[in-house]
Amino acid sequence: MLEKQHKMANNNHSNPQATDSRGRLARSHEKVETNSFLMIVLILAVISVAGLVEIVPLFFKKSLTQPVEGLKPYTALQLAGRDIYIREGCFTCHSQMIRPFHAETMRYGHFSLAGEFVYDRPFQWGSKRTGPDLHRIGGRYSDEWHRQHLKDPRSLRPYSNMPAYPWLADRMVDAETMPRRLRVLQILGHPYTDEEVAGAAQAVEGKTEMDALIAYLQILGTAVR
Ligand code: HEC
Repeated sequence: MLEKQHKMANNNHSNPQATDSRGRLARSHEKVETNSFLMIVLILAVISVAGLVEIVPLFFKKSLTQPVEGLKPYTALQLAGRDIYIREGCFTCHSQMIRPFHAETMRYGHFSLAGEFVYDRPFQWGSKRTGPDLHRIGGRYSDEWHRQHLKDPRSLRPYSNMPAYPWLADRMVDAETMPRRLRVLQILGHPYTDEEVAGAAQAVEGKTEMDALIAYLQILGTAVR
């Protein structure tokens, strides 16, 4: 009975050449399926090509690589503030990435554009929102408001669970390292002049870390409105 079925199955192929090539295909496929090394190599080849097709065009797309109009590299003071933002872990509670959803643009303003982050190394998009998004916080409150809020968040927002950062007002910005910080970014292609790099220490002279952080917050997201 089985044999008969087998014969019938074989007889169903009217074209003997097709049967042959199908058999060859099955055999060569078996080679891949039973050889894990070959399988790994082929999978890597497929993923690499697929990855390149997706990734390479991004490097050449102007809207993703060029700064948006009006975007300036951070001044020495703003850059110092950005470093404090990272050091204090503000990004663990605040994102800087307004998504193109109605609810977000109603609350925060224009959604974030790739061209706004070209001078951010690394960008501070974040992934957690215990507090609100800060991408367009620039200019929304006065410096005095920020000073009070950072010193004692609950004095302005009674139910806030944001930590207080009172010591920022007592610590001076580390001016000595500023020229080097700007220099590194200049090497990476940020359009700083040599004078700006050389004068970076002087630019933050006498400024507290609070001043720097507020200068940074006040410029955030102001290139696009
Ligand atoms: C533990 C989480 C947490 C951390 C860490 C944190 N925040 Fe907040 N932040 C919040 C919450 C919650 C709010 C909303 C309540 C409020 O305004 O205090 C907030 C509000 C804010 C606001 C007002 C935003 C608005 O639209 O009204 C600013 C500005 C801000 N945070 C800046 C910072 C900075 C700068 C740091 C780092 C020095 C920081 N936050 C660290 C939780 C956090």
